[in-house]
Amino acid sequence: MCGIVGAVSSRNITPILIEGLKRLEYRGYDSCGVAVHQDGALRRARSTSRVAELQTQAAEDGIASGTGIAHTRWATHGVPAVRNAHPHFSPGPNAAEGAAGRVALVHNGIIENHDELRAELQARGYVFHSQTDTEVICHLVDQLYNGDLLEAVQQAVQRLKGAYAIAVFHRDEPQRVVGAREGSPLVLGVGEGERFLASDAMALAGVTDQIVYLEEGDVVDLQLGKHWISHAQAGRFTAVEREVKTVHAHSGAAELGPYRHYMQKEIFEQPKAIADTLDAVETIGPELFGAGAAARFKDIDSVLILACGTSYYSGSTAKYWLESIAKIPTSVEIASEYRYRDSVPNPRQLVVTISQSGETADTLAALKHARSLGMQHTLTICNVGTSAMVRECALNYITRAGAEIGVASTKAFTTQLVGLFLLTLTLAKVRGHLSEAQEADHLKALRHLPVAVQAVLALEPQVVAWSEAFARKENALFLGRGLHYPIALEGALKLKEISYIHAEAYPAGELKHGPLALVTAEMPVVTVAPNDALLEKLKSNLQEVRARGGELFVFADADSHIESGEGLHVIRMPEHYGALSPILHVVPLQLLAYHTACARGTDVDKPRNLAKSVTVE
Ligand code: G6P
Repeated sequence: MCGIVGAVSSRNITPILIEGLKRLEYRGYDSCGVAVHQDGALRRARSTSRVAELQTQAAEDGIASGTGIAHTRWATHGVPAVRNAHPHFSPGPNAAEGAAGRVALVHNGIIENHDELRAELQARGYVFHSQTDTEVICHLVDQLYNGDLLEAVQQAVQRLKGAYAIAVFHRDEPQRVVGAREGSPLVLGVGEGERFLASDAMALAGVTDQIVYLEEGDVVDLQLGKHWISHAQAGRFTAVEREVKTVHAHSGAAELGPYRHYMQKEIFEQPKAIADTLDAVETIGPELFGAGAAARFKDIDSVLILACGTSYYSGSTAKYWLESIAKIPTSVEIASEYRYRDSVPNPRQLVVTISQSGETADTLAALKHARSLGMQHTLTICNVGTSAMVRECALNYITRAGAEIGVASTKAFTTQLVGLFLLTLTLAKVRGHLSEAQEADHLKALRHLPVAVQAVLALEPQVVAWSEAFARKENALFLGRGLHYPIALEGALKLKEISYIHAEAYPAGELKHGPLALVTAEMPVVTVAPNDALLEKLKSNLQEVRARGGELFVFADADSHIESGEGLHVIRMPEHYGALSPILHVVPLQLLAYHTACARGTDVDKPRNLAKSVTVE
């Protein structure tokens, strides 16, 4: 999703701004731009193509300066078009067509009161050239400017409702960039004699590892070799100190190696990601989740899981584990729903957020909402140790999946499941539901997982053969039962995200209550069929599909006695894996989605309209 980079330096920072955008590229964007303060004027290049094209354009135009801002945009207000791409300029009120800019601004987030502000600014003579909410902030800063950019931004942000991270500079102050954040992430990078801004520290990898995580409501003033952070309290800004942290942000520019796409690479990295996530685990206990976990786990009587997208499905899987193994009542909610509904708060509930990025706006807002209701026992399962989610939660378990570049989440999902299984075992132990022998058995199964996943990955050629048939379909149905119903949901999500085939998942027992009406020879039905207590029931569901001429594609455990036949295709999973079986069964579904998308020729790593990290609501 949208990315920001900004800098004030005495060297030419255009290459740093462009490189920063490249590092954020994988998150998804539809246009990009860069603006600098050059020879007393504002200059910019914008593009609806890739950052590489912007780089060429900026070089051809000779855009070079020590002060500048840059942006990747993921359209919310207004179509992807050059006129809507950031940076936006304000030439001031009643300006003639093509007049030079005075203020340059980039913005992540959504301004909710943009209509009201636009009307106000139009009445003052400001002309709008884009359909964005961002241009409103740009003109507002211009209107409030009275010789001091910091003051203008401080006043402007007090008028904004919604979420924002902004970076802005003014024609009359050549070596100054001001940033502000509320609801969208923004970090300050501290270099020698230079200062940087970015929506993620990763954008500054290789530039500086000295990072300040700005807090909600902070406004930061960047000048050559110095910065000043202020924070509003009751409408007045006062100076605040924020800790400078040494952050070894990974570059995100991982090599593809022998793989065609990052998604394929990440699917194949799962054995290592799982092994790394388990690396430090010697025994099961609250200390795995940070200081103070033991006391909190003793106090809780239930679990509430909040997440979005794929992370929501790992939470949905964990509910089965938490209730069956730890015997603790668990509910799972989509974060964007929870944050706005009336719920019954329970201060003894453990609030667990799950997030690959740790920056998903709805999940962060849901967490804050839970806290505002008095729920203070918070824990996150997250893949980015420096993220807002980790900073905001009392406890955490950091998955070690490494940078995930493909928009469709794969290794983050399986490592989240590992973290959630460890949480399950820990709560089971604390609550007296885990004997030493059981703990040892579970740990043994966890440690064997990388090998087991490797064996599943060896099924790739069989999945490729299926994907050719799938590529010609426009719809698909996924079935699972129990613990594997969320896996069916995740399989359907993967397929629709990257192949654009409409896919739905149902618990197989619901077949007769609606989806059976859709079953024809044109509707492939993918079934997750582990050899568990529900296998016989599932077999009956498969008969129902066959009887209607539906074509079945079944991922069956070796000993589940489902044989291939007419209209029934079976891929045998290497082994039955008990409670951890979802971690194995999701892998062929990832591969099926991946190879189907390849056969359809879609942009697998950057599917249309989707973003890696959804930092707006
Ligand atoms: C986006 C991504 C998904 C991800 C979801 C939640 O939709 O495309 O892959 O599952 O956000 O993201 P999070 O970082 O919170 O896990």
